Amino acid sequence: MSQSPRSPSIPDEATLNVALLGPDEQRRKVVAGAIAKRPGLKVHEFSSFPPRLEDLPQMLAQTYEAVIIDVDSEPDYAAALAESLCASGRTYVMAYSASADMKRAVHFMRLGVREFFTLPLDPNEVSAALVRASTRRPAPTPQGEKKNGRLFVFLGSKGGCGVTTLASNFAVALAQESDRSTLLMDLGQPLGDVAINLGLTAQYSIATALENPNRVDGNLLSTLVAKHSSGLSVLPAPTELYDVQATKEAVDKLLKVTRDIYDFVVVDAGSRIDLIDSDLFEESAVVYLVTQVGISEMRTANRMIIKYFARRDESLQIVINRDKTSGALFDEAQIAKALTRHANWKIPDDYAAARRTRETATPMVMVDSPISQTIREMAKTAAGVLTEKNGKRSFFSFLR
Ligand SMILES: Nc1ncnc2c1ncn2[C@@H]1O[C@H](COP(=O)(O)OP(=O)(O)OP(=O)(O)O)[C@@H](O)[C@H]1O
Ligand SMILES: [Mg+2]
Repeated sequence: MSQSPRSPSIPDEATLNVALLGPDEQRRKVVAGAIAKRPGLKVHEFSSFPPRLEDLPQMLAQTYEAVIIDVDSEPDYAAALAESLCASGRTYVMAYSASADMKRAVHFMRLGVREFFTLPLDPNEVSAALVRASTRRPAPTPQGEKKNGRLFVFLGSKGGCGVTTLASNFAVALAQESDRSTLLMDLGQPLGDVAINLGLTAQYSIATALENPNRVDGNLLSTLVAKHSSGLSVLPAPTELYDVQATKEAVDKLLKVTRDIYDFVVVDAGSRIDLIDSDLFEESAVVYLVTQVGISEMRTANRMIIKYFARRDESLQIVINRDKTSGALFDEAQIAKALTRHANWKIPDDYAAARRTRETATPMVMVDSPISQTIREMAKTAAGVLTEKNGKRSFFSFLR
């Protein structure tokens, strides 16, 4: 007796939440009827396209693992929606049309749409597509497998010291040298420029998370994070001025969620010493205090170290940026006296490298130079790849 081939099935343990957006009721009902027969699906039908497209992709991506869009009703709207949903990388996007227009199908596939159905629907094609949608879903982090990622916070003794430059390049080098999941978070308010430094254009920003701390979880985070070609994940600052302050509560929540997910979390804290009571500066965090050799910068660094960081040993790393080999304002002994200890790292002053970054949006660490060598050494030490530095035990040893 011959057996009909069994259609592949969606794993039982998870429900696939599907949004079906179809202003044309007749076509929508055809699609809804075809997918409703599949087990393990929860389908929500939308009978119109919401008027505001701005927040829609983010809202859909937070709630639905798969979205199916009617491309005939309002082709331009459907294309814009599909494009931003696909860009978030979070949702499995499918589309359907009553016409077998190859050009249109190719256009949508180029935007990132994974499946394109034409009516009348082929039930086997739909089944296989739903199985693919189900199996490519990001697996939820299993309970008890939280990472408790290590935290590296870059703080400036004054604005303009080079915090964003160093945090961004350190994070890129850390992601590459360690091959571990690494997130760079931009708290350099009001207009942080981490994304600009890395040549990233991001659609969403950290502002959403800071405004809604109660809603911050892995799902929301995945819709806000942008990916750099180095493998680094980036939670960028907003590109517009906005009123929301990063409160201690919001920052703490964000750190908790991100450290559950990533092995390493690097923060550009700008000069936000007002967040000293937040978890940014908890004992296990490594604080990189970035300063320059100038009267005002050294004086502020001195006050900060004495007031906030005096009890820290290896977990305070003092970084002198734009270090000059000659013509410095102070000698080594004077600098050590002002900083109450010797600096851990000296980053050379390199105008050409800084200009190249501005012009090409290529991080400094991607091009070999004395700056990139020092930053890579910092990152390797932090990642535990270098366990010895100058014959001494690495500062990182205390984290193990
Ligand atoms: N080592 C360096 N050599 C030369 N130029 C540098 C170096 N580090 C940073 N710069 C330049 O100094 C300027 C300020 O750097 P950056 O934006 O990183 O500072 P910041 O501390 O983040 O400033 P803000 O307080 O505005 O956030 C930038 O133009 C940057 O390219
Ligand atoms: Mg900055």
